[in-house]
Amino acid sequence: MNYRHDYHAGNFADVMKHVVLTRILLHLRTKPAPFRYVETHAGSGIYDLCGKEAEATGEWRRGIGRFLAAGLPAEVRALALPYLDIVGPSVLSAARRYKGSPSIAAALLRPQDKMLLCELHPEARRSLEAHLGHDPRAKVIGIDGYIGLNAFVPPVERRGLVLIDPPFETPDELSRLTSGLEAAWRKWRTGVFLVWYPVKDASVVGSFLASVSRGKIEKVLRLELQVADPGPDRPLGRAGLLVVNPPFRLEAEARLILPALAECLAEGRAEVAIDWPRPE
Ligand SMILES: C[S@@+](CC[C@H](N)C(=O)[O-])C[C@H]1O[C@@H](n2cnc3c(N)ncnc32)[C@H](O)[C@@H]1O
Repeated sequence: MNYRHDYHAGNFADVMKHVVLTRILLHLRTKPAPFRYVETHAGSGIYDLCGKEAEATGEWRRGIGRFLAAGLPAEVRALALPYLDIVGPSVLSAARRYKGSPSIAAALLRPQDKMLLCELHPEARRSLEAHLGHDPRAKVIGIDGYIGLNAFVPPVERRGLVLIDPPFETPDELSRLTSGLEAAWRKWRTGVFLVWYPVKDASVVGSFLASVSRGKIEKVLRLELQVADPGPDRPLGRAGLLVVNPPFRLEAEARLILPALAECLAEGRAEVAIDWPRPE
């Protein structure tokens, strides 16, 4: 386990993932019934943007740094504002920290909601516990994310969101992800699942999307954002999200937000893809 999100926190892919996460949680909050937020690969919860890892890549400056400074169209700003209000103050503070997905969720969960956070790396888990361990709504668990996915779905509330955001360190990650997602969806067909994936090789991602579609999961929305062609200086220029059972308005919101992200974060050939993958 070598992956450290500290190098990438706040980059273009985090901004897309976390804006969409925020929108989904806001939609879940529209009904008073409690919901549960589950994360299979939760990370540290907070990242030091002055640390040597963040400084080594500077990715956050080209991601959240640029997004915070952007002059966004009014309707995009209104949709992104809850995210910017949660992460902006700490990025702009002297201590310069970026809030990860568990902290963003903690800001949006209500007293009746709960969250379950799986994180296997001891150091990241310690940070997560220090940051959110006091929160009575949160439980941090040191188990493999896919074991957690199988164990914690469906939640007792029968409403909620699972974020699957693995490190993609091993070649079998996409196949574990596909089978884990399919098994979880079979157990909880109304749950919302948000899956992050990198796009480095279009044919590998094409087979992943085809296998998700063949697995018969209904209602999958694909959102992809490219800010640059991948290259030796820039290993990740494009990333995607799959949203299983997206809230009703999410596609329309993504059609406003993603093009604005592409425009503001572009470093080369930027583009957006939004569709509903179907089996061939
Ligand atoms: C991409 S980061 C998570 C970032 C976080 N979701 C966010 O958006 O702020 C992936 C995390 O998964 C952890 N991890 C790696 N292998 C794992 C496994 N098998 N089970 C659970 N966590 C794992 C890594 O330590 C890392 O913190």
